[in-house]
Amino acid sequence: MPKASDGHQEALLQHLAVIMDGNGRWAQKRGLARTAGHRYGAEKLYDLCVMCIKRGIKYVTVFAFSTENWQRPEAEVSQIMDLFIYFFNKYKDEMKKEGIRLRFSGVKDELPDRVKDTITEAESTSETRKTLQLILAFNYGGRREIVESSKKIIAAVQRGELDPDDLDEEKFRDYLYLPDVPDPDLIIRPSGEQRLSNFLLWQGAYSELYFAKVLWPDFTENTLDKALNEFAKRDRRFGAIEKE
Ligand code: FPP
Repeated sequence: MPKASDGHQEALLQHLAVIMDGNGRWAQKRGLARTAGHRYGAEKLYDLCVMCIKRGIKYVTVFAFSTENWQRPEAEVSQIMDLFIYFFNKYKDEMKKEGIRLRFSGVKDELPDRVKDTITEAESTSETRKTLQLILAFNYGGRREIVESSKKIIAAVQRGELDPDDLDEEKFRDYLYLPDVPDPDLIIRPSGEQRLSNFLLWQGAYSELYFAKVLWPDFTENTLDKALNEFAKRDRRFGAIEKE
């Protein structure tokens, strides 16, 4: 099992987001069921946490199940639900040792009770940990998040708690799922696909994007370092021009 080393590197960025894509193709290439790919993908997720800690990254958000993924065969959906419970039980002691706080972003109400209960346990037992925040985007959709935020805003206006004239981008953020989490600096998508697929639409407005050909279960430290090196060379201007 990899361990985060004591000698952490200086952080190049504070928030990394990853679309864990390519599990199905990885399994098919090996003549395995798609579910085996997801299983390997879950192990890789813990490796990613260790890689991030070693590099001083403070937040990692991963896309584990989208609001569109319910359209997959029932058995695959059910396996991904159980995989979260498996992941939590397998790694909970190590996550405690490493100081990993687990948080969720998405619509919890629609999840099976066994998953909701595990989410509650995972969040409440890890709340005070400080080394890394692992944010699982689970039953998450970027458009859905924006619609739900808008509904919360309308309700706040109707209750007389918010004046519409005071609504700006900063205020809007307060109604997102995790308002305290900074925007991702870099979004990595492995597997060769080059799109966001409804991931972090609001938060990713100025994120750098990096696409890798490798399938998620084959993602390595080398893949991450290539992405980080590329990120280090990018010129992030946030819509402004170069300062003299
Ligand atoms: C996309 O690959 C991946 C998913 C829809 C599921 C991702 C889930 C995991 C990596 C494990 C989940 C971990 C936890 C802790 C719940 P794909 O199936 O679309 O791959 P393909 O494009 O090759 O078919």
